[in-house]
Amino acid sequence: MSELFSLAGRRALITGAARGIGYALSEGLAAHGACIVLNDINADQLEEAGQRLRGAGYNAATSVFDVSDEPAVQAAVAKIEADEGAIDILINNAGIQIRKNLVDVSAAEFQRMLNVHVLGCFNVARALAPGMIARGHGKIVNLASIMAEGARGSTGPYNAAKGAIKLLTKTMCAEWAALGLNINAIGPGFVKTDLSAALHNDADFNSWLEARVPQARWGTTDDLVGPCVFLASPASDFVNGQNIVVDGGVTSVF
Ligand code: NAI
Repeated sequence: MSELFSLAGRRALITGAARGIGYALSEGLAAHGACIVLNDINADQLEEAGQRLRGAGYNAATSVFDVSDEPAVQAAVAKIEADEGAIDILINNAGIQIRKNLVDVSAAEFQRMLNVHVLGCFNVARALAPGMIARGHGKIVNLASIMAEGARGSTGPYNAAKGAIKLLTKTMCAEWAALGLNINAIGPGFVKTDLSAALHNDADFNSWLEARVPQARWGTTDDLVGPCVFLASPASDFVNGQNIVVDGGVTSVF
């Protein structure tokens, strides 16, 4: 394995890692040498995911917490770093979706979206950044979306949250890059997971997607592993505040 992309000796915390993109990123980081700590709010699925990865021979711990619950995040991060060791890489991936037109969205639903996505990214980064700064090294990857590049109707709170994550990423770069941290985002396109089930179960949407996405297919969770390993590894040491869109080309064409 090239040293450039090696994560040997590094420890990564991946939020929302019980399934979907977070699980694939965890496996990918572990395959490149990282010790991993998987987080999720769903304790049962998280335990299964951890067991599967340990069964595959990886060093994988688990930690259940809600990323939007700041005291819970602080307590969990302190325990993880005491039990496992310092976290060098954070993947802020936990997420939820609500599919409703704006006129049907309640303020509480909108707030929950912002709490999980935006505050969630902030909470976990805020808990880990002081240690990363003290050690002069840290890699943070925030999951944005192509919904931060252009909006589809019916996912308004999500679109707003993902737009905020892009600017939060740049702000973390503005404040922490000089202290040794790299903070970047990944903006996935349409990826087949439970979160996007309403779309991949819709025949009309599938026809639209095949005509509209230059690569004419759904993204897979594995499509995101390469960009994530890159952003977590020494290969990206001078990449900061960026958003790498991984979408089969859909945001590049009319
Ligand atoms: P998913 O629904 O398959 O997985 C999300 C995971 O996050 C679940 O295991 C869930 O239990 C966990 N989670 C939810 N709320 C949490 C909380 N408060 N604290 C801790 N864990 C929590 O979704 P998927 O598709 O894997 O999405 C992962 C990330 O990628 C999300 O941030 C999502 O917005 C983003 N994304 C996904 C796209 C897609 O097409 N699937 C496209 C663009 C971005």
